[in-house]
Amino acid sequence: MTELPQRPAQRPARTHFSSGPCSKRPGWSLENLSNAFLGRSHRASDGKARLKQAIDLTRDILGIPDDYLCGIVPASDTGAFELAMWSMLGERGVTALAWESFGKGWVTDAQKQLKLNDVDVVEAAYGDLPDLSAIDFSRDILFTANGTTSGVRIPNYDWIPADREGLTFADSTSAAFAQPIEWPKVDVLTFSWQKVMGGEAAHGMLILSPRAVERLERYVPDRPIPKIFRLTKVGPTNASKVDHAIFQGATINTPSMLCVEDYLDTLQWGQEIGGLPALMARADAGAKAINDWVDATPWIANLANDPATRSNTSVCLKLVAPEVTQLSAADQATFCKALVKRLETEAVAYDIDAYRDAPPGLRIWTGATVDADDLTILTDWIDWAYQAQLADLASAA
Ligand SMILES: Cc1ncc(COP(=O)(O)O)c(C=O)c1O
Repeated sequence: MTELPQRPAQRPARTHFSSGPCSKRPGWSLENLSNAFLGRSHRASDGKARLKQAIDLTRDILGIPDDYLCGIVPASDTGAFELAMWSMLGERGVTALAWESFGKGWVTDAQKQLKLNDVDVVEAAYGDLPDLSAIDFSRDILFTANGTTSGVRIPNYDWIPADREGLTFADSTSAAFAQPIEWPKVDVLTFSWQKVMGGEAAHGMLILSPRAVERLERYVPDRPIPKIFRLTKVGPTNASKVDHAIFQGATINTPSMLCVEDYLDTLQWGQEIGGLPALMARADAGAKAINDWVDATPWIANLANDPATRSNTSVCLKLVAPEVTQLSAADQATFCKALVKRLETEAVAYDIDAYRDAPPGLRIWTGATVDADDLTILTDWIDWAYQAQLADLASAA
């Protein structure tokens, strides 16, 4: 019988490392939401004021330009991104960049659901980013700012010309509040509340540049647009006009005011700790805690091949020791799942297995609500769990 390694002495103070819903902010408590505007209409003036406050705080923290619109829409990030796709695509060719599961999902939408007749797909395997230098910006471009399931992010916005004919659509759900956004380079940007800020799910944020608004008002796609996707109204001259009330807190349908209160709570926390620079620094520190350990550990590696593309929120790791890589893909997945389960059983880390469509491995959320010290302690536990798994493998052989 192989002897099990010693358990690490310290345990993470907070053990939530899921990539969505992500850890609540430090100091979060349900009691902080006791002023939620509950049991009343969200269209009452106080309800609308809370929704507007959530929009305004989002704008402040993210530094959204005054001439961009920012609104709360239904159905989380998927709702926000699909709303934009359904409402705006088709006027010109579309290029969809995809290097992991969520980007591939937008490809499926464009090709199989919207059935657009001119879709180019630029793909890369898990761990890589496609070539961003050869993109035709006379087309509309869809991309994922941070590929949550491969841990590969865009390194910057230099590859997007400020002066372009097409629109850029950025799914930024696991990037917003953790990575810089160059606003002149994006026309449509979406995210949800439960990621970097650790809010609650179900609501999406939709941010539109003046050119995106122009598109909405100029181009009426020949397809049904569900009510929850409808951003425009027909004006008195029969022209299509963006409904600006949506971007002032008059949501299309009913939001959860409890979730709104929770989002306000975390936005206020974000402001108190120093706003966007502090939130980004926390994500960077968390990712560094993991990456420093990875660099010093021969049996594990970052799934993102180019260090410039490594996510500072969804850090994805692969096991590279021969003991593991010699196993079949299915056995490698079983090994990783057992390792993750071991950490859950010890109550030291939850939900750190790789995404279901991604290569076997670990995925650890390091966004702003997670403490870097907890991530450092977590690495000791992963070391422990890995040695324990190897011991199990040896005794099973
Ligand atoms: C990059 C990306 N896009 C889209 C989604 C879907 O987000 P939601 O569940 O908020 O609709 C996720 C969820 O993890 C994601 O990481």
